[in-house]
Amino acid sequence: MTTQNAPLQSVIWAEDRLDLLDQRLLPEEIVYLPLVTSEDVWEAIRHLKVRGAPAIGISAAYGVVLGSRNETTPKRWLEEVLNQAEYLATSRPTAVNLFWALDRMKARAEQLATAELSLDEVKQALLNEALAIHSEDEETNRLIGEHALTLFEDGMGVLTHCNAGGLATAKYGTALAPFYLALERGMSLRVFADETRPVLQGARLTAFELQQAGVDVTLICDNMAGMVMSKGWIQAVIVGTDRVAANGDVANKIGTYSVAVLAKAHGIPVYVACPLSTIDLNTPTGAEIPIEERSAEEITEGFGKRTAPQGVKVYNPAFDITPNEYVTAIITEKGIVQAPYDVNLKKLFNQ
Ligand code: MRU
Repeated sequence: MTTQNAPLQSVIWAEDRLDLLDQRLLPEEIVYLPLVTSEDVWEAIRHLKVRGAPAIGISAAYGVVLGSRNETTPKRWLEEVLNQAEYLATSRPTAVNLFWALDRMKARAEQLATAELSLDEVKQALLNEALAIHSEDEETNRLIGEHALTLFEDGMGVLTHCNAGGLATAKYGTALAPFYLALERGMSLRVFADETRPVLQGARLTAFELQQAGVDVTLICDNMAGMVMSKGWIQAVIVGTDRVAANGDVANKIGTYSVAVLAKAHGIPVYVACPLSTIDLNTPTGAEIPIEERSAEEITEGFGKRTAPQGVKVYNPAFDITPNEYVTAIITEKGIVQAPYDVNLKKLFNQ
């Protein structure tokens, strides 16, 4: 079925509260949760109501605003901004966009605290910073899409893993941005979406948002990627990422590493799409990226019923590391970077 609907926004600032699309309920139900406290935001991030590296960062920025807005003195306000940022940073460990957005909010608050402004003006200016983080993400993703599109040709089959789409960002997504731009320009790409065990972001979110937009998308189970590659149906892989280390090692949804190894075996390029805010030059290699482990129930009861014996041992890392030698190129808003990543990623920041 091909339909064309306006894309759903995952994060909406609604005057004095944050409306978050509950991504756990997609594609069956479209429910926006009205969040009014930083605890609400922390809980939404931890429990994947909002997920995807940029969307987590944007939500946390609004969380700082919500958590500090009731302070009545400038001194208490600044203390609370810093406390709330520290608190929200504990919601999830891997996506560096979370820490990037919180650092940006802290730096802005510290700057505002020294300005000759009333407390109301200072609070409004901090909200403006969160709104800027939000709106800049949309423009960034469009640019990523433009650069990514130069790597694709009409009729190509492209495989993606997890969801790095509009739902994971302000709009367009990172890895999915070129598909939206291709559609706008009448270019036809055939997208294969891995269902992405254990919580099925590929099936529930990627297949949903691409189908809604009218992109040609075919859903496959994760363990079918090798098969479709061997049939010659895939000419490129494109994924998002939660953190790129200084040497170009990439943390992304569990299973990305397997896809990248398969792609290399079939001579298929692997592209990683992300904003500069996902590149962490302070983390030297993938070995230092903290990998989140999630509950056993995601695996043993992920389909809403028990699918494994009671008491079985479970290992459930949410992300894996794809070593840089499997990454053909990293696509950012500033352009496309190739190996040697330790040199070329640094150059990107100095441009
Ligand atoms: O656990 P999730 O759903 O937050 O994982 C998301 C991913 O792995 C995405 O690929 C990544 O955050 C990039 S989103 C543009």
